[in-house]
Amino acid sequence: MLTRRDILHQGLRAGAIAMLRTSSAHALASWQASPSQKAAPDKMTSNTSQQLQHYPLPDFGPLPAELPAESRALAGKASLKAHADRHGLIAGAAVVVRALGQDKALDELIADQYGILVPEGELKWVALRPSQDRFDFALSDTLFEFARHRRMLVRGHTLVWHNSVPKWLAEGAASLDVRQLLVEHIETVVGRYRGRVHSWDVVNEAILPKDGQADGLRKSFWFDSIGPDYIELAYRTARAADPNARLTYNDYGVETDSAEDSERRKVILALLRSMQQKKIPLDAVGIQGHIKAASQNRIGSDLREYIAAIQAMGLEVYLTELDVNEDDVASDDVSIRDAAVAETYRTFLGVALANPAVKLVLTWGVSDRRTWLNDGPTHHLKQPNRPQRSLPFDPQYRPAPAFFAICGSLDEAPKRTPTTRNQYA
Ligand code: XIL
Repeated sequence: MLTRRDILHQGLRAGAIAMLRTSSAHALASWQASPSQKAAPDKMTSNTSQQLQHYPLPDFGPLPAELPAESRALAGKASLKAHADRHGLIAGAAVVVRALGQDKALDELIADQYGILVPEGELKWVALRPSQDRFDFALSDTLFEFARHRRMLVRGHTLVWHNSVPKWLAEGAASLDVRQLLVEHIETVVGRYRGRVHSWDVVNEAILPKDGQADGLRKSFWFDSIGPDYIELAYRTARAADPNARLTYNDYGVETDSAEDSERRKVILALLRSMQQKKIPLDAVGIQGHIKAASQNRIGSDLREYIAAIQAMGLEVYLTELDVNEDDVASDDVSIRDAAVAETYRTFLGVALANPAVKLVLTWGVSDRRTWLNDGPTHHLKQPNRPQRSLPFDPQYRPAPAFFAICGSLDEAPKRTPTTRNQYA
């Protein structure tokens, strides 16, 4: 059976439909009503992927003409990056590249607050590979230039992901040399940005225990086309293409004390162990951190032990995609929802940052004006009229309680050896 989490992470229309079939008549009625709502107001709030976006996005009004004074006051020593830097950490965020250079206030906010950026979709296969013989680097180049001008680091996300396989590849696989295409893709993309990437999410979300395979590997396009050693191939190719980028394995569903997450952690740790036995190059593990406010699942000892197990393998840990889904908060009151989100950040970061192996903290987006959580089908089933308040800045780019919660957690983190020297600092 598809869970909400599967759907959220797969972003599949089929998944949404399956979910809708099992949902109540009430939820169905509100979903059917939603397409008649106003169209998305500006393209900077919208999604980079064709796969999601079945629903109109919320109307947040015009873009803020300039950065609000209260946010401007948080530049410099009061910024997320300064709070992080004082403890040997680097703070960052995922960005939608087509907004950069188009939204002055957002550009300023990003430059003020972050030391590292990751493109939300622009380095994925679907974005880079319109056809077999063409790479389109226009948007990814824009991001690297934006970061270079502001002396920021960049994370690469991602080289191998089951959910970003271009149509021409998925449909033509039977007559294509997929193995060779993967090698060529990694050599070209990693090679192009050689020396400019802090860390690459080489393989993203390779496990799915419920697919029923002995090693817990997901029956993905890459698995089916190449076999289980697609993982080894990807990491070895990436290392050769850029020996200085930290190679990362990134995954979700490892954050809570629950049976499902326990199984996932076990499978990932076994995968990491087997990679180390085979001397497959690997430097870090990404914990995505898509967490929920008002969830039954606790965040505590299991996460602590998971991070400690990764640390014991000599690997770094990156918090790569943090955000807090607040659909389950029972109250519509904004201050109650904001407090629940802030508290959830505090709980998660309190556990994660206590371990000095954790070196990076990135949120999956900057402001609630643009969060993928508003696009997914589960949101529209649960809270069709309630845009998510999940990120450190609100839709007008004012700091939310989450911002101060993250700063507070950074302040409490033990000092650590930084992951790398910022080559631009
Ligand atoms: C999401 C993006 O945020 C969406 O815009 C896109 O449509 C689908 O992908 N885990 C990941 C990210 O590793 O790449 C996903 O990003 C969110 C879940």
